[in-house]
Amino acid sequence: MSSSLKSHSFQASRPQFLWAIAIRHAAFPRRHAHLLHDTVVVTLKPSAHAVGQTEFVGGIPLTWPHGGWRENIILEVTPSHRKPRNAGDRLAWRVTRICRWAMDLVTGMGPEQKVDSKHPTTATRAIKPLTESQWLMRFIFLESIAGVPGMVAGTLRHLHSIRRLKHDQGWIKTLLEESYNERMHLLTFLDMCKPGWLMRCMIFAAQGVFYNTMFFSYLVSPRVCHRFVGYLEEEAVHTYTRCLQEMDSGLLPGWTGPGFKIPDIAVQYWGLQEGRRTMRHLILSIRADEASHRGVNHTLGNLDQDSDPNPFVQEGFRSRHMELAATKPTGLERGETFKSK
Ligand SMILES: [Fe+2]
Ligand SMILES: [Fe+2]
Repeated sequence: MSSSLKSHSFQASRPQFLWAIAIRHAAFPRRHAHLLHDTVVVTLKPSAHAVGQTEFVGGIPLTWPHGGWRENIILEVTPSHRKPRNAGDRLAWRVTRICRWAMDLVTGMGPEQKVDSKHPTTATRAIKPLTESQWLMRFIFLESIAGVPGMVAGTLRHLHSIRRLKHDQGWIKTLLEESYNERMHLLTFLDMCKPGWLMRCMIFAAQGVFYNTMFFSYLVSPRVCHRFVGYLEEEAVHTYTRCLQEMDSGLLPGWTGPGFKIPDIAVQYWGLQEGRRTMRHLILSIRADEASHRGVNHTLGNLDQDSDPNPFVQEGFRSRHMELAATKPTGLERGETFKSK
């Protein structure tokens, strides 16, 4: 399959259906029409802020500075799948499959661009690659959704704490930090292209449905919701891994050419040093973030939602919690969170 991927001539993806044409042209405004072609050169608008200040983005202090990733950690990340173990897990996995199907549909993914459906979060080879414009559309839609669950969960745990007059066991900080991190992913990709009216409408509608569904679902079963987010993050790691493979295979020349420059916001947020300010390093950093979300949410889904403390803010875990989560694809089991303290 690898050779078929490499040998595939890199032509602009021909939409399979009329709706795909409509989506792809309305998703990006006319001035970004060049993104729809195979030899994409993504132009960046000039940034007003200086590069090199990792604690500021656009003059505003970072709420949660990132600190960057160690090279060995970002290279260690791999796609994975935590097998469902009970009815709640199976429900979360089923809903995730529906979300993936919807995502493939709205981003105009053709049948040949899909991976083996029996291993949707670990199989990363497809007959036909995605184009840069398809990747960007997918990233922007994915990240606009990904920023929702952490904020919903953090909000509800905050309300629960002040309503029930009790501590939250340290979960809120991690949840809000996750949603902030997702928003930084979105802002980074928005510096590469501006969505058109159709994409904006889809994001608007998706947020309305997703926020409210998450809100009521989290009230009913926070454990299933964390498992669901863990599965969504498996999808995110899969997405960025596949993008990296296609980039390494020379199938995304618009992002690997010498003239391509990543947004300043990314340089600042991840503290990327000279020599690492490439699209490959940016995607590696974002993938590591997604891997840490995957580990955190699968862990939170393993805990008692009312009484267990958040292990990722405890002494001993705090300084390395992102790395620990990123290298634990199926999360920490409940017993491990106490043993490792
Ligand atoms: Fe993300
Ligand atoms: Fe994520």
